[in-house]
Amino acid sequence: MSKKFYLTTPIYYVNDEPHIGHAYTTILADVLTRQSRNSKIDTYFLTGVDEHGQKIQQAAELRGVSPQAHCDEYMQRFKDRWTTLNIQYDQFIRTTQASHKKSVTHLLQDLWDKKLIYKDEYEGWYSVAEERFLTDKEYEEGEWRDVKRLSETNYYFKMSQYQNDLIRYIHDNPEFIQPDFRKNEVLGFLNNPLGDLCISRPKSRLSWGIELPFDTDYVTYVWFDALTNYISAIGYPHDMDNFNKWWPANYHLIGKDILTTHAVYWPTMLMAAGIPLPKTIFAHGWWLMGDMKMSKSLGNIVRPLDLANKYGIDALRYFLMREMTPGQDSSFTLDIFINRYNSDLANDLGNLVNRITKLVGRFFDHKLPLNKQPSAEDEELADKALALNKLNIEAFEKLRVNHAIDNVMSLLREINRYMEAEAPWKIAKQNPERAGAVVYTATETLRLAAGELYAVMPEKISALLEILGTSSKDMLSNPRWYQWNFLADNTVLGETPGLFPRIELEQKQQPAPKPKKAQVPTVTFEEFQKIDIRVATILKVEKHPNADKLLKLQVSLGDEERQIIAGIAEFYSPDELIGKQVSIIANLKPVKIRGELSQGMILAADDGSNVAPLAPFKEMKPGAKIR
Ligand code: MSP
Repeated sequence: MSKKFYLTTPIYYVNDEPHIGHAYTTILADVLTRQSRNSKIDTYFLTGVDEHGQKIQQAAELRGVSPQAHCDEYMQRFKDRWTTLNIQYDQFIRTTQASHKKSVTHLLQDLWDKKLIYKDEYEGWYSVAEERFLTDKEYEEGEWRDVKRLSETNYYFKMSQYQNDLIRYIHDNPEFIQPDFRKNEVLGFLNNPLGDLCISRPKSRLSWGIELPFDTDYVTYVWFDALTNYISAIGYPHDMDNFNKWWPANYHLIGKDILTTHAVYWPTMLMAAGIPLPKTIFAHGWWLMGDMKMSKSLGNIVRPLDLANKYGIDALRYFLMREMTPGQDSSFTLDIFINRYNSDLANDLGNLVNRITKLVGRFFDHKLPLNKQPSAEDEELADKALALNKLNIEAFEKLRVNHAIDNVMSLLREINRYMEAEAPWKIAKQNPERAGAVVYTATETLRLAAGELYAVMPEKISALLEILGTSSKDMLSNPRWYQWNFLADNTVLGETPGLFPRIELEQKQQPAPKPKKAQVPTVTFEEFQKIDIRVATILKVEKHPNADKLLKLQVSLGDEERQIIAGIAEFYSPDELIGKQVSIIANLKPVKIRGELSQGMILAADDGSNVAPLAPFKEMKPGAKIR
């Protein structure tokens, strides 16, 4: 690593609900920057939110607030999550902040002055839903709603002119795009002619953006605005000393879906501005829910706080860092999470700490005796413990956080094997000296191994080190900490207050968030109008004679009474329902359900664990039409 370390995450769309994908990148950035700070490297960690664009403008309109007020409120959700997840960023940038806007304006003006931006008319198929022009191929092959032919005058950045320079740069700088297979993807993309980049939107279509300094009828297109955050945050162009201190970034951490924008748009923008390129753009894979994509529309988003609240912040941080091989996709299920937690944290680490502190408590009055006569086995373990730090620094430098964690876990398992083989509890009475030597060796090895997990689990590891009679402060400030025999003779060991309690099965059986059906077909208004939905008042309820889960209801539609069979016996007793109003589909073809006639259907909300019939907001005449 160089003397300074500047690392960025993508800036997240402020509208989005923070989910595990966002949390992953941000925790990865936090772990890498903590690690770098621990190595006494000058470090800067930037994250933030992307606040301009049509979606944000629309969301604000829907809520009846100004876009700025909407952003002010929504960006707080990201800030709060990051605080809870113990993320120590240096700056949280917002693209609506004045310094950022100035920076984007400066860059635009610079490229305009250099004649690298020009105005042109474009006619094509425009998707209103996607907010962009489709290529002819996309238009022909895809199924698009809301597409119209649009001709628009816009501003274009002469990106095509940098195609060859970029290809050469990528070849000359093998570290520039990582992992390698992503680099090849970008080179493949660059095999085709690179077009120019549309960088504006007319204000008639989008007003929530940064105005073009050379034409105030236009705002900047979001990517031009968003990518610039990486330089505006550190002072471009208002504080060039600070900018030169940090730039070029060591890593832009991104997800694979935003590779082209980062590995093609961004470097060509920088080349045009005469700014050096970032050292490495690292594209990680996606967290999948089982084997499905995680998305709002599928309803299978994992909220990081739900997990952190239930199982602990550090457990979540550990899982995300251990389970994903950076670059590849990873599967998230509650089962995988719990298995990983139980096997690594509760068993291999937690049990070892318990075992050691109990032994020292029981046989040595809580005072750890120094190992004055190490055996060959003791020395072998000590050598491995002392080699770990260097091994892990190398793994971290290559962003192989999961390998670094693996190295620690292998050593912990080795301590466990060593303890089994030496069995100090068996010899403690006859040979307390040897028993003490074994426990000391195990404790020293555990101390050095646990220290390597500090960046991943800062809270838990701090607590653990205190139990071992040291602290994370010692680790960070005392160079002797990484040497053997750091723990003095008779160091008092604390009790373990159950650092990583096992997650028991009954918790495990709780259902994982259920993915919703991927595609619900659309219906026309005419089709919808065929359904006759009405308010009904429940007059009488009894149990269905032939089925436990069903109830038999008599309802009034004002001028008519009906019998309806409803599957809600598990949720409501007959008494709870009598006199209540519900909504029913009144023109459903009557059927017999388990021998009883049903003349309609009650509408009810179902979230997988609860069912609630839908009632009108206030008392209505029975039979009132719902539309
Ligand atoms: N605002 C842009 C980024 C601009 S950076 C100059 C954006 N925002 S985003 O909120 O949609 O996505 C941010 C990041 O989250 C992307 O890197 C994306 O890959 C990542 N993820 C979104 N879903 C994800 C998973 N399921 N798993 C892992 N990361 C994923 O794009």
